[in-house]
Amino acid sequence: MPASLRHLANWAIIGTLLAQDPCGRQILMSELTELYDQIRACTRCVLAQGRTRAVPGEGPETADVMFIGEAPGFHEDKSGRPFVGAAGRFLEELLSDIGLHRKDVYIANVIKCRPPGNRSPTPTEIEACRPYLDRQIELVQPRIVITLGRFSMERHFPGARISSIHGIPKKIDGVLYYPMYHPAAALHQPSLRQDVVGDMKKIPELLRQIEQIEESNRPEDAEQLALF
Ligand code: URA
Repeated sequence: MPASLRHLANWAIIGTLLAQDPCGRQILMSELTELYDQIRACTRCVLAQGRTRAVPGEGPETADVMFIGEAPGFHEDKSGRPFVGAAGRFLEELLSDIGLHRKDVYIANVIKCRPPGNRSPTPTEIEACRPYLDRQIELVQPRIVITLGRFSMERHFPGARISSIHGIPKKIDGVLYYPMYHPAAALHQPSLRQDVVGDMKKIPELLRQIEQIEESNRPEDAEQLALF
């Protein structure tokens, strides 16, 4: 679909719901906002008991680029926003290297509540949050989903090794996924920094290719996309 029509289509898909504000007035809520409310009230796993705030995710509802991290950390749990600590500052630097700002992209996590002591998420916790992230991807319909780190990659590339597949895009169920190392990993292991910077720099060209193929709307170009 031409890029000019795609965002209109997104709006149609997202739709709106009626809700009441604290004064009882009727307001329009997007389905994504409604999903955020469900996540903030979620008690599907034990992490609900220890959280200060759930961290649903944030960004434009029609973002072309979606990043999926692992889980909220200390600062995210306090603020309710994703990637606001050291890893977030590095992510913002990486974005600015390719001419993007965090307000241009959608940022979410595999799980929405902080695990105690920042331990790794358990399979049960990941499963409990799975429908929320699936729905976020469905509603935003990004052109590219960038998985950050092992847990985010594992969700879409089960059994893969991040050292083998980082920086290689792949279309799965109509969505283009692009696995990268987690920015926090590069902060702790400087040897990974070059990979993270290099993989990020490939994103503008990938987006250009996707846009060209969408705009030409020719079957042979669509086949090229399928090669990812
Ligand atoms: N902050 C997040 O929101 N997610 C991560 O994976 C790391 C830091």
